[in-house]
Amino acid sequence: MKGIILAGGSGTRLYPLTKVISKQMIPVYDKPMIYYPLSVLMIAGIKEILIISTPHDLPHFQELFGDGSHLGLSIDYAIQEKPEGLAQAFLIGKNFIGTDSVCLILGDNIFFGPGFSKILRESTALDEGGLIFGYLVKDPERYGVVEFDACRNVIGIEEKPTKPKSKYAVPGLYFYDNDVVAIAEQVTPSPRGELEITDVNNEYLRRSKLRVEPLGRGFCWLDTGTHESLQQASSYIQAVQERQGLKVACIEEIAYELGYITLDELANLATDMLKNQYGQYIADIVAEKKMAP
Ligand code: G1P
Repeated sequence: MKGIILAGGSGTRLYPLTKVISKQMIPVYDKPMIYYPLSVLMIAGIKEILIISTPHDLPHFQELFGDGSHLGLSIDYAIQEKPEGLAQAFLIGKNFIGTDSVCLILGDNIFFGPGFSKILRESTALDEGGLIFGYLVKDPERYGVVEFDACRNVIGIEEKPTKPKSKYAVPGLYFYDNDVVAIAEQVTPSPRGELEITDVNNEYLRRSKLRVEPLGRGFCWLDTGTHESLQQASSYIQAVQERQGLKVACIEEIAYELGYITLDELANLATDMLKNQYGQYIADIVAEKKMAP
């Protein structure tokens, strides 16, 4: 399975923060926002990753991650000229996807919770159809919203409905078989001028090939769409990390844990960060592993 991180958009809702730098590059506590979705793809076991961003922002992501080999990954890059929708990622990424299945994650979505690694591993095993998630939120009208019938069967998904038919939002993490490319090619722009991922999902549903998995209570899908929610996300990550002494989305640690890089390579990744707690965290892991019998 291939992975795509869509890190486009104009970010106007976070101006002036995002006037010059990409939303997905601004910090969520101690690391750039895009580290979080990248870590999700890594934990899912996906090694071939395409980052899609704007002509202005793409070079910054290239500078940050290079070809990904230092993390044991292969990272490619592609431009989305205009914010013309999530489903366009499959058109831009058509050659990259080739004949594979694909996971799309939004560059500003943060996921964290018990059992998530297992969910991800199971999701990458998908060989047919589409798999998306449903997450209970207070403000569903801001998202794609799942509609159920009386027997709790999913009967539709609506994009940002003014009158949501449930409180289950669809987070920005999607798994599809290779048909997604052909399906995305058939999607036409919505009234807001975007190729909607919701239309892709509804097409899978029409073909009876869409699974919607609930992400339960206690699971964390954090929003970063407003100044308030961005600050809350940072505080949440800080609280979790400080309580346990473990980092969320430390991509260097994950690369080591997955066996993609050696302990010496991990140590090297920390060398220019040793004066801060992020680099020190990695150095501590190295020291601890070296001491272990
Ligand atoms: C997009 C999707 C929406 C989904 C959301 C998740 O919304 O269109 O269906 O629920 O991402 O973050 P947008 O970012 O375009 O507002």
